[in-house]
Amino acid sequence: MDVFEAIGKRRSIKNFDPSHIIPKQQIDKILSAAILSPTSYNIQNWRFVTIANKDLQAKIRQASWNQAQVTDASVVVILCADLLAWKKDPARYWKNAPQAARDYLIPAIIKSYEGQDQFQ
Ligand SMILES: Cc1cc2nc3c(=O)[nH]c(=O)nc-3n(C[C@H](O)[C@H](O)[C@H](O)COP(=O)(O)O)c2cc1C
Repeated sequence: MDVFEAIGKRRSIKNFDPSHIIPKQQIDKILSAAILSPTSYNIQNWRFVTIANKDLQAKIRQASWNQAQVTDASVVVILCADLLAWKKDPARYWKNAPQAARDYLIPAIIKSYEGQDQFQ
């Protein structure tokens, strides 16, 4: 599909067939594509929690303005952020980069995030 066609045809889907079950391989494929998205300094500080449990989904629905799609959907994905990921061995995010890039980027990561709660 052409990229402009894909953008033009995208819609937020709000009605789900409650009897449909998405196979785990499809969820993995979708999330594998999602994590190709860019992140600041390539920190990839997203953490995905996938929930395919109707009891848990009912509790999440209560906290989501009682929206039916939360329980109708086969899987709910909660996107969390690890706000301190930048601190956790930041060199690993650039381990395959040339040394000159690593020498610049790793101190830059620390300088950008340290004490910068909003940026985190
Ligand atoms: C940050 C954000 C939060 C949203 N939250 C909800 C939501 O709680 N429930 C819902 O049904 N749609 C939600 N939407 C979807 C919007 O209603 C939808 O994007 C908008 O109506 C435009 O429709 P479209 O995405 O189909 O173009 C949200 C969208 C964004 C960007």
